[in-house]
Amino acid sequence: MTEHKTDKSKTWGPDTIAIHIDKALNETTSLAPPIYQTSTFVARTADEFTTMANEPQHPRFYTRYGNPTHEQAQAVIAALEGADKALMTSSGMGAVSAIVFALLEQGSHVVAQRVHYGGSLGILENVLSKFGVETTFVDQTDPGAFAAAIRPNTRLILTETPTNPLMLLTDLKAVAALGKEHGIITVTDNTFATPINQRPLDLGIDLVFHSATKYFGGHHDLVAGAVAGNAALIERVWRMSIALGVTLNAFDSWLLLRGLRTLRLRVEQHNTNTLAVARMLAAHPKVRQVYYPGLEDHPQHALACAQMSGFTGMLSFELDGDFAATERFIAHLDLIERAASLGGIHTLIVHPAAMMAAVMSGEEFAKRGIKPSLVRLSVGLENEQDIMADLRAALDAV
Ligand SMILES: Cc1ncc(COP(=O)(O)O)c(C=O)c1O
Repeated sequence: MTEHKTDKSKTWGPDTIAIHIDKALNETTSLAPPIYQTSTFVARTADEFTTMANEPQHPRFYTRYGNPTHEQAQAVIAALEGADKALMTSSGMGAVSAIVFALLEQGSHVVAQRVHYGGSLGILENVLSKFGVETTFVDQTDPGAFAAAIRPNTRLILTETPTNPLMLLTDLKAVAALGKEHGIITVTDNTFATPINQRPLDLGIDLVFHSATKYFGGHHDLVAGAVAGNAALIERVWRMSIALGVTLNAFDSWLLLRGLRTLRLRVEQHNTNTLAVARMLAAHPKVRQVYYPGLEDHPQHALACAQMSGFTGMLSFELDGDFAATERFIAHLDLIERAASLGGIHTLIVHPAAMMAAVMSGEEFAKRGIKPSLVRLSVGLENEQDIMADLRAALDAV
């Protein structure tokens, strides 16, 4: 196994890490990493074949187990998260599935948040429940709620911060300390923040994962997942990932690696654009409320400042109007597109009350604090003045 964490990664900035940390893993003279578009690799001797077949994450045995293109991208992800090792998967859902199936067994108990990405909630509520795994869902804004939910059979505390769509935060240091105190593995979905804005492992969390479809890829052109942590945990998750078959293909690994090269630059511009948009919206007479941890009036702004170095490219806001007015506002947008997903170059908008109307009742929306006029914005990398002009023009038209 190649150790990804080097002394250099401790002193280099994230941009240098993302461009150089995987250099030694490229065995060719091609400056851009080759795409190893192959399902299998040739062993020159019987001994070599034994090593290839038995070494965890061997990059040159069989692509479901590993691939040199995976290895290079994984080296970058591990170093950015401050981890020993990383693993890429075929999607963010592939990452969360491999984690929970690797770390839980029949009779295990999980403490999770009331608010997670819907797919993660679905695994806990509809899949693990079929195999005798129970979950207690807690208010993520209350560190005491995590402690109160722990049972003797709790094996995993699952966190996600900030969460969609109201940008609620979890105190990662407090959760990590709780996990350490009780010998429970702590896991964080770091998709919204990215390691540029938040490094959960530095705060004591054991494992982080991503929908790499989002900021890691950054260009809305791939679907992928990633997990990072210590070598022993990553080996367990990797073993489950090859059993489930949630392997990322070589071309998307290459695209992901290309996206990662500019992660710092992109995320900082997402942060800058979003703070400007949040301030503009907060001052706009047709906007009732803005949810962005970078704004001083966000109820967890102090926690955001303590555990994040930037506040992400995600925000949500409520129009001063009803469901129909919100739809009219979206229809008047010109630059900004209505689409699922987030974290890429294009600014995207979602109207949760419209998007989830088929699967959520009015009561459920109210319980989750999702008003009919709430919209979620993934602020892209267009010029911030142009993004704001598009929003202002559509607000004026309502
Ligand atoms: C926070 C978060 N986690 C996980 C996922 C799942 O990732 P994927 O769609 O890549 O499977 C998503 C997808 O939207 C997400 O937003």
